[in-house]
Amino acid sequence: ANLFQFCEAGFEYGESACGISASSSKILIKGGTVVNAHREQVADVYVEDGIIVAVKPNIKVADDVTVLDATGKFVMPGGIDPHTHLAFDFMSTQTIDDFFSGQAAALAGGTTMHIDFVIPVNGSLTAGFEAYVKKAKKSCTDYGFHMAITKWDEVVSNEMEIMVKEKGINSFKFFLAYKGALMINDELLLEGFKKCKSLGALAMVHAENGDAVYEGQKRMIELGITGPEGHALSRPALVEGEATSRAIRLAGFVNTPLYVVHVMSIDAVEEIARARKTGQRVIGEPIAAGLALDESRIWDPDFVTAAKQESALLSFFVFVLFLPSNDFQPFQPDDLSYFRYVMSPPIRASGHDKALQAALSTGVLQDTLTFLQLVGTDHCSFNSTQKALGIDDFRKIPNGVNGIEERMHLVWDIMVEAGQISVTDYVRITSTECARIFNIYPRKGAILPGSDADIIIFNPNSSLEITAKSHHSRSDTNVYEGRKGKGKVEVTIAGGRIVWENDELKVVPGSGKYVEMQPFSYLFNGIEKLDAKYLSSLKAPVKRSKSTA
Ligand code: URP
Ligand code: ZN
Ligand code: ZN
Ligand code: ZN
Repeated sequence: ANLFQFCEAGFEYGESACGISASSSKILIKGGTVVNAHREQVADVYVEDGIIVAVKPNIKVADDVTVLDATGKFVMPGGIDPHTHLAFDFMSTQTIDDFFSGQAAALAGGTTMHIDFVIPVNGSLTAGFEAYVKKAKKSCTDYGFHMAITKWDEVVSNEMEIMVKEKGINSFKFFLAYKGALMINDELLLEGFKKCKSLGALAMVHAENGDAVYEGQKRMIELGITGPEGHALSRPALVEGEATSRAIRLAGFVNTPLYVVHVMSIDAVEEIARARKTGQRVIGEPIAAGLALDESRIWDPDFVTAAKQESALLSFFVFVLFLPSNDFQPFQPDDLSYFRYVMSPPIRASGHDKALQAALSTGVLQDTLTFLQLVGTDHCSFNSTQKALGIDDFRKIPNGVNGIEERMHLVWDIMVEAGQISVTDYVRITSTECARIFNIYPRKGAILPGSDADIIIFNPNSSLEITAKSHHSRSDTNVYEGRKGKGKVEVTIAGGRIVWENDELKVVPGSGKYVEMQPFSYLFNGIEKLDAKYLSSLKAPVKRSKSTA
């Protein structure tokens, strides 16, 4: 931990000033079980200059090679977090983790790449991109960018093309929530979907109905509910379900693939499942917090009872007609610790978490199809001082939770240790599928000759307790505080360098590389055939009406 502090202070001077020399550029990982999404095998892995050179049993090497013994352990591709917000200016403040602290935390938790959301500056994608290039200069792990689209005109449309063709961005996020800030309307969403399709870029949505959220917030304030519990109550699952359904159907109408970020509810999963069963290309991304947390673990017991009564009376009319306002016992949090859980869409009642887990699993639950394909975090960390901006009004609590360091451990514990998925599935949902969707496979997401040497050594027999005291985020709180789990990332190798070993980080600011992502991932295969089918289905009735005339 000391080493990490020291490096952070000295990051402008690069690695020599920190007294850290890059670990050997030649590494042999011996005797582990090498896991890829498609198979697992006992093998050695030999790495040279940041690239995996060989994966096979009994590799012999000279003595200038660093040898790591992985006997009895899993050797897996480093995690790729598809959804983070580092150095994000949001809700009158900036996230506490920047590209250095956030990425250092990622590496300590076995994640070796993440994809962050570039936010345009006054609607300008070019200015937004420039700003994020600057923010990311201190990177110590590889990263890519998605880009948000917050307004629409010819300039934005042209900039999208530049981003895809020249800047290595192949995905754009549309916010259906955050009215008055990031939210866009359906007209813009359709324009955006069409543009994404023509560029081979993946459209992503934050699916909550922002107008309904605005209405829900007003309702809570009128009822005198200003505390953090008002956040979840103002944006129930139906608001997420509606927007998910709308986005999926509009993407289907345009015939372009869709990626739904931070899926938090049964309502949203059902919409994704329905679409996937019809063959529509929809990807659903649950986040670690949605899998690991539920309201009952968050709120004061008195509040949970109140919340249950309310959700039984969720319909607006029932709510207003039958719930006299003097029956309300507004929850008064006695300390700020509740604020840390505020994110959008909100962490939901128990049951939603189980449904999200089931939708991720295959095999073990025989009758369950995979309706969700990969796990992100939406790491968007604020400390308790920042969260206190909303002390008098939940609408001002900066939205976001941590997770970039915890994701790999949580998914292991909840999904693999609990018997819901296999180890190969684990690699698929934490790394490989993300690499495929964003078109960087097999450079990333695989332990194969030629792949980047982003590797973790995972000990399934070890264990871990999550706490803000030992985590590497700059936040003073952790939404998983005190959680214990089986399994531990013992070594992280990023770009061929050992960056995490013996609970010590050796990270070098500036060593992380920007990973350009090409358009037209596998999700676009055969899209034009579906277009042709659609066109011919239009012509048929035209012909018939002529012949009958
Ligand atoms: O509460 C959240 N999710 N904060 C990050 C911004 C976003 O909507 O992803
Ligand atoms: Zn350093
Ligand atoms: Zn979002
Ligand atoms: Zn997000």
